[in-house]
Amino acid sequence: MGYDFDTIIERRGTSSLKWDFTQRFAPGRSGLLPLWVADMDFPAPREIQEAIQARVDHGVFGYTLEPDSWFDAAAAWLQRRHGWTVPREWMLPTPGVIPGLVAAILALTEPGDGVVIQPPVYYPFPLRIRGNGRRVVENPLRLTGSRWDMDLDGLERAIDSGTRMLVLCSPHNPVARVWEPDTLRRLAAICAARGVVIASDEIHCDLTMPGFRHVPIATVSPEAASISVTLLSATKTFNLAGLGGALSVVPDPRLRARLEKGHSAIFAGPANAIAVVATEAAWRRGDAWLDELRAYVQANFHYMTAFFADTMPVVKAFPLEGSYLALLDMRGLGMNDQRLNDILLGTAKVWFDEGPIFGRGGEGLQRINLACPRRILDECLTRMARAFGGAAEEPSH
Ligand SMILES: Cc1ncc(COP(=O)(O)O)c(C=O)c1O
Repeated sequence: MGYDFDTIIERRGTSSLKWDFTQRFAPGRSGLLPLWVADMDFPAPREIQEAIQARVDHGVFGYTLEPDSWFDAAAAWLQRRHGWTVPREWMLPTPGVIPGLVAAILALTEPGDGVVIQPPVYYPFPLRIRGNGRRVVENPLRLTGSRWDMDLDGLERAIDSGTRMLVLCSPHNPVARVWEPDTLRRLAAICAARGVVIASDEIHCDLTMPGFRHVPIATVSPEAASISVTLLSATKTFNLAGLGGALSVVPDPRLRARLEKGHSAIFAGPANAIAVVATEAAWRRGDAWLDELRAYVQANFHYMTAFFADTMPVVKAFPLEGSYLALLDMRGLGMNDQRLNDILLGTAKVWFDEGPIFGRGGEGLQRINLACPRRILDECLTRMARAFGGAAEEPSH
């Protein structure tokens, strides 16, 4: 291992959303160990830190744009990591994936139009859809045993004449599924036949677990390419969320022209000078770190599942295919979400994202962030075992 994922770095006092804002986000709680929001407790790789340092040393931070080399680095990354050939003209920089999604909603749909989501899903999707005067159309995922799938028959029924967009989450946060090409192809065929564009949030695409392969929706069929806007970023992959910066990829020229118009109406202008160099360094020099990170997260997942099997067998984790966010199935404890949260936050003092915030299907589930040093995870699991005690043992029959 060339990179250190084990050292605990004190993040308190850095205005960290995850560590420093307990009173804002979990009022009345204290002493919480945070394994919630999707950022990592690891430093960005030294290759990125060096690029940032060189830029900081320059000392002048005037208006900045993404240079050609930034687009070249993005294209080379997408080719190398995902086998996707992306010409320069398909790429539109955005300040972030969610700003890019909002721009797509505003540019490609009208007020009152329906936008499909597949809950349980990343909760800002419905917030941004409703917040911008569009209608949320739900097509919940289906759960069979421990496997989550898209309900494509349900999708056919859910799309009505006013539905214009589907927001895809691929890999899917929070169920951690990496969607198969065949599923994506069928999804795209349904959407294309019904005049629905796909905004595909692929921010977790680089974070597949070893053995799983992300397939960009735009590559599964010509019709998928023609109706899709793919939202990407290096910020999730390399823990640069505090810097921002993202990319929308739109192969279809007409769709791209509409989105470009939207971008110029919404985004005021320049890029973040630090984000530009950090992102380019990530795409050029981040492969080795990323592969070690993926292995470390997978080892954390196995450590956690072995712990539950030994100590709290009624708690199960859904398989982790993509992202560093694992979904825990705590329904076996027979507690409602209020009680579950009271024990997690009040007694165990561990802080996850509770399933119900992700919408329908999230009841009894909790999302845990595994991008942390093993000792933090171990402390979290020990606190859980202590707090749930006998309640977490498998009932004897
Ligand atoms: C699915 C998904 N999309 C978007 C984001 C955030 O993207 P950004 O910070 O670029 O707006 C996250 C962060 O957790 C996410 O999980």
